[in-house]
Amino acid sequence: MELTNITGLKGEVTVPGDKSISHRSIMFGSIAKGTTEVHNFLQGADCLATIDCFRRLGIEIENKETSILIHGKGLHGLSAPANLLDVGNSGTTTRLISGILAGQPFDSKLSGDESLNSRPMKRIMDPLRQMGANISSILRNDCAPLFITPARLHGIHYDSPVASAQVKSCILLAGLYADGETSVTEPSLSRNHTELMLQEFGADLRLIHALDGSTKATALIRPCDELYGQKITVPGDISSAAYFIAAGLLVPDSEILIRNIGINPTRAGILNVCEEMGADISLLNQRKEGGEPVADILVRTSRLHGITIKGEIIPTLIDEIPIIAVMAALAEGTTFIRDAEELKVKESDRIETVTDNLKAMGCDAIPTADGMVIRGGRPLHGAAIHTLLDHRIAMAFSIAALTAEGHTKILDSHCVDVSFPGFYDTFENLL
Ligand code: S3P
Repeated sequence: MELTNITGLKGEVTVPGDKSISHRSIMFGSIAKGTTEVHNFLQGADCLATIDCFRRLGIEIENKETSILIHGKGLHGLSAPANLLDVGNSGTTTRLISGILAGQPFDSKLSGDESLNSRPMKRIMDPLRQMGANISSILRNDCAPLFITPARLHGIHYDSPVASAQVKSCILLAGLYADGETSVTEPSLSRNHTELMLQEFGADLRLIHALDGSTKATALIRPCDELYGQKITVPGDISSAAYFIAAGLLVPDSEILIRNIGINPTRAGILNVCEEMGADISLLNQRKEGGEPVADILVRTSRLHGITIKGEIIPTLIDEIPIIAVMAALAEGTTFIRDAEELKVKESDRIETVTDNLKAMGCDAIPTADGMVIRGGRPLHGAAIHTLLDHRIAMAFSIAALTAEGHTKILDSHCVDVSFPGFYDTFENLL
């Protein structure tokens, strides 16, 4: 994809459904009794990999034009897959499904693409093994491909070293199949869609916030007889909306209304960051849909300034850091991003991919052990962007390209399909 600078993005957009919520709707619908109906499901490659895995586990899933119908067979209704489960590029599929598979009476093997098979799985293997699970890394490198065989699971309390919704969700899902109570404490609250949605499906799940003023958060689950199918409307993904928020703020003479976006506080850290950077951004028509807060987001071109982003806000904007870094490059002053070492184990090492590509566009960006320092305010110029097939790098640098002098080439831009098929077409509404 080749892009050049533009001005005056005006109009309304909608973005596809939330990726995290779409994955969970398929997984929980598959192990619930009865039919689950999902609207505004994200038809991105990652979520389609989740559908494919559950079909291979014997669940009938109808992917209709306007909805998904999952004919769940209950907590104990999955059947042995004939072949390997292909999780593609999706860390969420891999880590969450492992929690479910650990509790099944059959063997399963799962594997993904090169990037997925190099991401750390010890973070789920350790707690699952503490629960009694038989899970191993086939190449003995603590990565996928993974092999899971039947085991009797028992409840544990797990003090997670990382604030990771994938780790938390994996353990809670295994907890559905364990004897007794399972709880997970994380250093600060990561996205809580699993907790909210499992409660809607009828799970016996409680949330406990630390009383000592610390940021720690605990979720506790007890096994139940069954989950029950639900009707779910997936809100627009704030992680996808983030690119249009940034485009509206950075491209001169712009005003964009992004409709129907999930603003769950465990996801919406980017909104706080925008405000602190001086953005003209407002939330309109705030409402609740299916237990999740939703709003329309209005942004207008703004002069931004650098800030420091660190601590417990990090898990609430972890996927938005590439686009926040682009905003920082165009803001006056210096932005410090700290406590974000998790960026190293995403679809690419995002500390490296973000700072390397920013430097290629003329920005003074310095990688650090747990984040980056960006000295903003210099105009960007066009460059060849090496995405390393990371969808969020492709989209973040497409927005940078809209503000940069000259031509920018986004290499392997098709990787946007992982979370945002139609990303480039969405701009047509704004020109
Ligand atoms: C996700 C959790 C986050 C996020 C990922 C989706 C989820 O990962 O980066 O894109 O749906 O649970 P971690 O849990 O590893 O932080």
